[in-house]
Amino acid sequence: MDFKLYVRDIEDFPSKGITFKDITPLLKDAGALQQTTKALLELVGDAKVDKVVGMESRGFFFASLLASQLNAGFVPVRKQGKLPGDTIGQTYALEYGSDTLEVHKDAILEGERVLVHDDVLATGGTAKATCELVERLGGVVVQCNFLIELDFLRGREKISNYQVRSLLNY
Ligand code: PRP
Ligand code: MG
Repeated sequence: MDFKLYVRDIEDFPSKGITFKDITPLLKDAGALQQTTKALLELVGDAKVDKVVGMESRGFFFASLLASQLNAGFVPVRKQGKLPGDTIGQTYALEYGSDTLEVHKDAILEGERVLVHDDVLATGGTAKATCELVERLGGVVVQCNFLIELDFLRGREKISNYQVRSLLNY
């Protein structure tokens, strides 16, 4: 399946000069949704996974599907103030300013094997902060898994100490 046929470019979103990769055509097509999940699972291979971590909000779409297929639990990493229980937070730099991601303290146990999934790898700030949260809880990142990687932003370099796999490169 040519997955790129289901990813549409939206010009000037969310701001002027940015071309947004919109995956909603892929999500709304039953066959494409199933095939994409399958292809993302193939990137994981035989690795044993206890937890799949997905990042708010677009990482949630496939992370929970992957967790279900891998017989693993799903753990949300969310933006500051969204999770109700005791959390730890990790702040990371944006082009302008900074942002903080949080995870529940009891979401991952010492030594658990964690698959980190997000829809897009851009500058890598989100993925790096997420991996740091996982490791602070004692988890082991077995792979950073993405639907889309924007090669020209070189996010991969920020998470070069992990195995990084993407389904689609632009
Ligand atoms: C987008 C995308 C990734 C992140 C990648 O999320 O879904 O999570 O940016 O960027 P980075 O590699 O430069 O960190 P966004 O923060 O726009 O939020 P959303 O998923 O809630 O739409
Ligand atoms: Mg996101």
